[in-house]
Amino acid sequence: MTQHKPIKKAVFPVAGLGTRFLPATKAIPKELLPIVDRPLIQYAVDEAREAGIEQIIFVTGRGKTAIVEHFDVAYELESTMEERGKDMSVLDPTRATPGDIITVRQQVPLGLGHAIWCARAIVGDDPFAILLPDELMVGEPGCMKQMVEAYNEVGGNLISVLEVPQDEVSSYGVIAPGAQVSDTLTEVTGLVEKPPVAEAPSNKIISGRYILQPEVMRTLENQGKGAGGEIQLTDAMARMIGNQPFHAVTFAGNRYDCGSKTGFVEATLALALEREDMGSEVRAIAERLLAK
Ligand code: G1P
Repeated sequence: MTQHKPIKKAVFPVAGLGTRFLPATKAIPKELLPIVDRPLIQYAVDEAREAGIEQIIFVTGRGKTAIVEHFDVAYELESTMEERGKDMSVLDPTRATPGDIITVRQQVPLGLGHAIWCARAIVGDDPFAILLPDELMVGEPGCMKQMVEAYNEVGGNLISVLEVPQDEVSSYGVIAPGAQVSDTLTEVTGLVEKPPVAEAPSNKIISGRYILQPEVMRTLENQGKGAGGEIQLTDAMARMIGNQPFHAVTFAGNRYDCGSKTGFVEATLALALEREDMGSEVRAIAERLLAK
């Protein structure tokens, strides 16, 4: 088996304004909205770490510094908790190894492709992962780990995909599937961002997880505007097909679209129901509410 360069870096685009969740997101980044008791960004960072990612690259913007604070040591909080003999393990996932979190700024919201391009100097010549924290992926192993396992087999570029009802495809990036490589792996022969339903090449959408070769940064360099007048990552990836291997991984697990309010509520309910410490209580509450 060919040895592929390991995936140690992940880019998290977190510069978005979160207008869909206003007024909640006026002073708080949407990535810090909690699903039960963990902020969205924590789920994505944990998923990346589980997959062996060591370097976390946040593409941030104005008003987003609280995300970096979340992964810092909160000295006053910790010493007070320690004095009071509180269990500190709850903070473990927020502890970053010194130096493993890097932020770059996206000064103007020109699109996802532009946000990723802002991280080019940190990504350098290494293949890297991208995780969109809006998409909450719950699986064992996690989505990124499933992708890294596929990458170790085929190398090149990979995106996670899932099937949605045909009338929903125009909200997403859509793949044109090629040859089926295995149960979960398909070649990608084309990609189109937010196509009209009638023009969509399939109902398989990009679900916010990517493993890409550094050449995508060069492609993004001169990427014109696409859907919605934004510089789209999907368009840059589409231009790489043919020059580099491109595969889609069908994620085995559950996905919650936390970029939408109903998806956010669904995720909250689903994860609360699964929790050992509160699942049965939440179930009883839900049943009581539904019976009304
Ligand atoms: C982005 C991508 C799109 C992908 C989606 C997943 O769109 O551009 O290809 O399907 O994330 O959530 P956005 O949600 O930023 O409009």
